[in-house]
Amino acid sequence: GISLSPLIDSQDEYQKAVAIICGSGLGMLADALSNQDAFKYSEIPGFPHSTVQGHAGRLVFGELRGKTCVCMQGRFHMYEGHSLCKTTFPVRVFKLLGVDTLIVTNAAGSLDDSLRPGDIMILKDHINFPGLCGLNPLCGPNLDRFGPRFPAMSGCYDAGLRRIAMEIGKQLGVAEVMTEGVYAMVGGPNFESIAEARLLHRLGVDAVGMSTAPEVVVATHCGLRVFGLSLITNKVVKSYDDPEAVDHEAVLAVGRRRAQTLQSLVMELVSRLDIN
Ligand code: 6GU
Repeated sequence: GISLSPLIDSQDEYQKAVAIICGSGLGMLADALSNQDAFKYSEIPGFPHSTVQGHAGRLVFGELRGKTCVCMQGRFHMYEGHSLCKTTFPVRVFKLLGVDTLIVTNAAGSLDDSLRPGDIMILKDHINFPGLCGLNPLCGPNLDRFGPRFPAMSGCYDAGLRRIAMEIGKQLGVAEVMTEGVYAMVGGPNFESIAEARLLHRLGVDAVGMSTAPEVVVATHCGLRVFGLSLITNKVVKSYDDPEAVDHEAVLAVGRRRAQTLQSLVMELVSRLDIN
C-alpha cells in the first residue's frame, strides 16, 4: 500500500515541509533527496498521468539538507489535455500535507536578447495568458477552506526568497548567468510563431513557457510561499531572417548541462528556509 509517512509524521510534530515541482529535464533534483520514498503518479488515486518525454512521472518524498521535502518529478501541462483543476491538484495535496513553501522550476525560451541558453531566470512575476481569458484553475465554486474567492497575485513570488537565491548565486559563482524576470505562460504545445514571439517581446515578457502559472495561482490562493525559476533553454525565434526552429531535444540537453548548478542552487535555498 501507499504510505505518505514522512510528511504525515512530520505534521504530527507541526513540522513544515517544502514541495518542489521539477520541469522538463530538471527531474534530477528529486534524485538528490535522502531517505526516499517514491510513487509513480499512476499509483496515486486522483493524480493525472504525465505524458511528456523527459518527465519521470513520480512523486518523491524525502529529505533535502534536513528539511522534509516532496518533489514532483515531472509536472502536468494544460496541453496534455488535463483540466487545469487536475494539473494543479498536487498543489492542494501539498497544502494538506503541511507544505509551507513551493519551489517551481521550468524550461523556458528567452525573448530578451540578454538572456542566453543556460541562463537561470528567477521569476519576479508572471503573465498568465490562459488565465487572462478564463482558463484558470480557480474557476468554479470557491473552496473557502483553501483560500478566498478573489486572491491577490501581486507579490506571489516571495521577495525574501528571491533575494536569498541571488545571494546563493553569488556564492556559487554563477551570478553572471542569473537574473530576475517576467515569465509568460502560453498554452502550447506548439512553440510561438515569429509574430507571436514579437508580440510577447513587446509586452515585456522576458521568458515564455507552457506551465507554472496555474500551479503558482493555486499555491498563492492557499497561502503557500512561492519561489520560481526558469532554465533558459533556447532563444525564441523573433526574426524572419533567422528561422532556426526550436526542438525539444535541445531543450532537454541544456537541462542536462545546467543540472548540477540548478541542484546546488535549490538545495542551498531549501537549507536556508525557515522551516523546522
Ligand atoms: Cl521557445 N516557447 C515556449 N512556449 N516554451 C518553451 C520554449 C519556447 N522553449 C522552452 N520552453
